[in-house]
Amino acid sequence: MNGYGNSVDLYHAAGELAGITRLVDDFYSNMDTFPEARVIRKMHPEYLTEPREKLTYFLCGVLGGPSLFIEHYGGINLPDFHRQFPIRAEERDAWMLCMQHAIAVQPYEASFKEYLLARLWIPAERIRLVNKMGI
Ligand code: HEM
Repeated sequence: MNGYGNSVDLYHAAGELAGITRLVDDFYSNMDTFPEARVIRKMHPEYLTEPREKLTYFLCGVLGGPSLFIEHYGGINLPDFHRQFPIRAEERDAWMLCMQHAIAVQPYEASFKEYLLARLWIPAERIRLVNKMGI
């Protein structure tokens, strides 16, 4: 468990809402600038205000914090939602690259950085798989 035995530890380790907001800001800045991410940037709207808020709220819940996404937008099935976009390995890797670099510049413990990257790989890969299988 990398020392992150319970979900409250995770939310604190991520810096709570303020820390997760900074992480997601850096993530979308990377998506705006990395050449590898052009393919996924094009799938997003011109202005990233709403995607930023949605991912921030979603990650709060993933990390054991308040369920802000559900409170504001209702429930979501992540793979199902992403089925509308052509997400193959290249797109998954572009998303993970933006996230990897965003995580790297946060003031997090090294062990939490590792944990978070591995944790987010799981839904990213699931999205790709469901998309590919058409299930
Ligand atoms: C695998 C690569 C991924 C790609 C290419 C991708 C792409 C996208 C795109 C294009 C949108 C729509 C943005 C908009 O129109 O506002 C979106 C929304 C979203 N994504 Fe992803 N995504 C990926 C992985 C993930 C992962 C791993 C998570 C969570 C850990 C995630 C969470 C979300 C959330 C919460 C939304 C907002 C849903 C809504 O509008 O109701 N995505 N994503």
